[in-house]
Amino acid sequence: MAHTANAKLNAWIDDVAKLTKPAAIVVCDGSQAEYDRMQKLLVDAGIGIPLDQKKRPGCVLFRSDPSDVARVEDRTYIASKTKDEAGPTNNWIDPAELKKTMTGLYAGCMAGRTMYVIPFSMGPLGSPISKIGVELTDSPYVVMNMKIMTRMGAKVLERLGAAGEFVPCLHTVGKPLAAGEKDTSWPCAPIEKKYIAHFPEERTIWSYGSGYGGNALLGKKCFALRIASVQARDEGWLAEHMLILALTSPQGKTYHVAAAFPSACGKTNLAMMQPSLPGWTVKTLGDDIAWMRIGKDGRLYAVNPEAGFFGVAPGTSAKSNPHALSTCTKNTIFTNCVLTADGDVWWEDMGVPPPAKGIDWEGKAWTPDCGRKGAHPNARFTAPASQCPVIDARWEDPEGVPIDAFLFGGRRPSTIPLVNEALSWEHGVFMGSSTGSETTAANIGAVGVIRRDPFAMLPFCGYNMGDYFAHWLKIGAKLGKKAPKVFFVNWFRKDGNGKFMWPGYGDNSRVLAYIAERCEGKDIATKTAIGWLPKPGAIDVSGLGLPADGMAELTKVDTAGWKAEVDGVADFYKKFGNRLPKALSAELDALKQRLG
Ligand code: GTP
Ligand code: SPV
Ligand code: MN
Repeated sequence: MAHTANAKLNAWIDDVAKLTKPAAIVVCDGSQAEYDRMQKLLVDAGIGIPLDQKKRPGCVLFRSDPSDVARVEDRTYIASKTKDEAGPTNNWIDPAELKKTMTGLYAGCMAGRTMYVIPFSMGPLGSPISKIGVELTDSPYVVMNMKIMTRMGAKVLERLGAAGEFVPCLHTVGKPLAAGEKDTSWPCAPIEKKYIAHFPEERTIWSYGSGYGGNALLGKKCFALRIASVQARDEGWLAEHMLILALTSPQGKTYHVAAAFPSACGKTNLAMMQPSLPGWTVKTLGDDIAWMRIGKDGRLYAVNPEAGFFGVAPGTSAKSNPHALSTCTKNTIFTNCVLTADGDVWWEDMGVPPPAKGIDWEGKAWTPDCGRKGAHPNARFTAPASQCPVIDARWEDPEGVPIDAFLFGGRRPSTIPLVNEALSWEHGVFMGSSTGSETTAANIGAVGVIRRDPFAMLPFCGYNMGDYFAHWLKIGAKLGKKAPKVFFVNWFRKDGNGKFMWPGYGDNSRVLAYIAERCEGKDIATKTAIGWLPKPGAIDVSGLGLPADGMAELTKVDTAGWKAEVDGVADFYKKFGNRLPKALSAELDALKQRLG
């Protein structure tokens, strides 16, 4: 049928409809009226809960199924033709076998539901780096979220035209409805039937059984990272799990920083931070994903492919992230937060007293002393980036912004200093590749366990991670002297009592200022065995009230700790066999030598 002007798209829609048997097919136009219709549909069905329209105009709350609260890395697959191509860090199933299993699951899976066709663009429409995807989904909640997170609808179809290329993204919640059957408030499939599948050679995504976040909003992690990382390898660019920010000094000079921290490790917070350091400003370009290409001048330019933020709610307060709070005062979708008696939302560490009585994320009566958390630790807000009070004027610039510095980082309670500058690009790639971090609630699984999460891409790299390291080395060789400087930061060091040693949040501006000064070549760092560390006094800590030896501890080389780190990395590197670039084993050896 002629659903659209694109023959290939029409054929795919018909094929999927034949298999999944939806009751109706709707091609999304991306209008506000359509969004409002979706919201009304969900509210009328008792699934979405409208918030008080005076306090939070245009806002609605959803509660997910307890089995469906985060990404499911164990159920996420890179089904490349060979296991070796997916590499040792990805789950792999033979693509033919996986397609067979999933086709079985997809048969009739949309019965009783509407199938929505969502044409979307990752990146500003018409930017040379942007790419088009089409998601087919039976979830109106997904339609609403995709409207905020991407540029979507009729204008994308126009751009796609009769013969344009797109990444097909098939999604279902995996809960068909029999005739007359009433829907549940969060339809999904049990965990063992969930599949988040990627076919990298075909640039295709199949997702079954989850309605939550990165499992279901397929433009985000599935396309903009897993599939895009493969496209980036083949086409000579970078698709990264990175925030993008613009930092301006009191002298008025602007630096662009891209930073890769694992999930729930501080990207949104850093991207929107309110600097505590007088005279410095930070503006936001993106909080989760960066697509970067080498520009005509030989520098690396970054674009945020998304149009909204899907941010962690708990911990977001007027003190930690005032700009995120302002961003979600209106037109925001909240998922798994507490509903207060006066129709507002609340979450742990919001910086305001908890409601005396509320309804928790599981829909149960909740009081502050009931012994349970009210919001799920991975509760999220979906809000338009345009509503961020510190959104940068260039955030939709089709050419992107030139990157001056890369930051890598993770949650490390010990050993890793506050900030450490790479000795060279290769050393920087070594740092990225050896990133360790404590696991968080952004994935279903144990929390607080240290694991290697190279470039914060462990769950998001669509091919062999050894080849990915090699790709980074290649990009560096192309950039030469124009390559961004590389730093490793750690906001999460803890003292003997388990307390964070660094205040973090807006005070991270003190580290950013130091980084800007290093970009200017200021002599404020000392070369050590592990990298360039700040000289005493190089980071302005005035007014922080740190203990006398605080900065010395945060910026020292913990030789014993680093020796253990070297062993850990050596162990991790073994996984990659001969796919590990020689330059990285050489970096590891050199570090070992330097540590003595
Ligand atoms: P994803 O959206 O999952 O990719 O997460 P993210 O990297 O954007 O993390 P986010 O900024 O949402 O922060 C996650 C958690 O880390 C929140 O609970 C924050 O309060 C906490 N956090 C962020 N920055 C800091 C910091 O500088 N210091 C400390 N101690 N905690 C921080
Ligand atoms: C992450 O887990 O890194 C996120 C949230 O940004 S999700 O969209 O669910 O992947
Ligand atoms: Mn993320």
